[in-house]
Amino acid sequence: MAGMSIMFKLASLLSLISVIPWAAYATVVHQKFIIGTQKVTRLCKEQEIVTVNGHFPGPTLYARDNDNVIVLVENNGPYNVTIHWHGVRQLRTCWADGPAYITQCPITPGNAFTYNFRITEQEGTLWWHAHVSFLRATVHGALVIYPRFGKPYPFPKPAAEFPVILGEWWSANVEDVIADAIQRGVLPLESDAYTINGQPGDLYECSANDTSRILVRRGKTYLIRMVNAAMNHAFFVKIAEHKLKVVAVDALYTKPYTTDQVLIQPGQTMDVLITTSKPSGLFYMAIRVYSSQTRGGRFINTTTTAILEYTGSINYVPLMPALPPFDDTQFAFKFSTDQKSLRSSVPQRVDEEMVITEGFGLLTCPNRSCEGFMGGRAVGSFNNISFLLPNIDILQAYYHGIDGVFTRDFPENPPLIFNYTQQNPPLPMSFWEPELGTKVKVLKFNSKVQIVFQNTGILTVENHPLHLHGHDFYVVGQGFGNYNPRTHPAHFNLKDPQKLNTVGVPTGGWAAIRFTANNPGVWLMHCHFESHTALGFEMVFIVEDGAGSFNSLPPPPPGLPHC
Ligand code: C2O
Repeated sequence: MAGMSIMFKLASLLSLISVIPWAAYATVVHQKFIIGTQKVTRLCKEQEIVTVNGHFPGPTLYARDNDNVIVLVENNGPYNVTIHWHGVRQLRTCWADGPAYITQCPITPGNAFTYNFRITEQEGTLWWHAHVSFLRATVHGALVIYPRFGKPYPFPKPAAEFPVILGEWWSANVEDVIADAIQRGVLPLESDAYTINGQPGDLYECSANDTSRILVRRGKTYLIRMVNAAMNHAFFVKIAEHKLKVVAVDALYTKPYTTDQVLIQPGQTMDVLITTSKPSGLFYMAIRVYSSQTRGGRFINTTTTAILEYTGSINYVPLMPALPPFDDTQFAFKFSTDQKSLRSSVPQRVDEEMVITEGFGLLTCPNRSCEGFMGGRAVGSFNNISFLLPNIDILQAYYHGIDGVFTRDFPENPPLIFNYTQQNPPLPMSFWEPELGTKVKVLKFNSKVQIVFQNTGILTVENHPLHLHGHDFYVVGQGFGNYNPRTHPAHFNLKDPQKLNTVGVPTGGWAAIRFTANNPGVWLMHCHFESHTALGFEMVFIVEDGAGSFNSLPPPPPGLPHC
């Protein structure tokens, strides 16, 4: 009886709390993003770019877990814009997620939209970026989430912290770069430099004076909040003569992992501790591309640098670390598989099981008039379906029951079983040509989902960084070659696998993920190589409402843009 009355009191207390508006017990973080253009000089050349509040990279947003974040985005630039809060769960706020034509129509020039969401049980580093066309090349910034008041980090408090945003620079208008690629049916032009906090560093022309510097004192521990905002490349990152201790990836704590260098996939974020154990000196932080393609791939083989500077180190020459070779897949695989969650609650059983092949295909062009392989046009696909962006957003169509925008027949398995990872497998030409469609996979609320992503070797064999919106997932297994449903599940890690929002599926291999579909709405899943996303390397999940309003998606916020 006593137990029951306590339960009753607890229940009435909880129902009372749920009627108090958020603002009564959480902080509200207000921010204004003004999208505009800016002339910026890099690599000896002036270039007009799209920026937020005139900065490249854009402003860092600071919040605490449980805060309500309200960002007014005013588009004073020449292009359509949306902003995505990469990795933010957006629990019941799918309308604020941001991918164009998936959860909203773009904000057209001269218009504005207010993103309003709450951080729910997340801490660490995430980031925000434009989610339309190629604009995220310059429209991006870090999102730092501190623990709730009074809650410590799961590691000793660092002396200070600094963001390290890795990016890519084109000495050209990025919107022209992608438009040209799509028109010709080829992958977009490679960038001209990689950047750290917006600067290519002193190994590039006309760049030495602006190399990013990170000032430190000796004998302290610092927190590096690293974001890979690059468009099309994963990076190895190393600091000369300093160990890196990884403590979180994608704002999810990992078991502390000490290493000489890290690998960071595009889209991923990483919290890394360094201890300044030297008496003095200058040390390069250097980044180089990890290119996983067995046939070399396309990238610029250059090294980008920033300088870790101990205070008072005037007459020093910076020391350069020895970076791994660009194709060090062995390190890449070991680094990824070594990471483990600090805490985990992996679904032990699954309700929904999918195998999804992912890779390239080739569309034929009339009279072989495109400039891709065999006069065709390269496209990305999942289960041999290349995603077609609709003209109005899928969320709006789903919520209001508008027909003809998408179909619900995304297949749970590949249309054909073959030796997936063989380079250019001997398949009928019809199979090389993916179907074009706006197909979604519908998931029941709270269902436990397992997906095996299987890379294919059609046209290229390479690592693809796959990102899911609205959910973090556990990577329960990964390997090279073809996934075997009879033998591999027995070796899945269901105890402490790493949790992420973006996983690098090993080149010529597969990765198995598990998550609980507990966030109602429309969620994009795509390759975070923007050059691949642009070619249809995307798919969509719809998570249905659960029982009661607390498990359902609320109506759209005021001022949502129209298409
Ligand atoms: Cu970082 Cu769909 O994006």
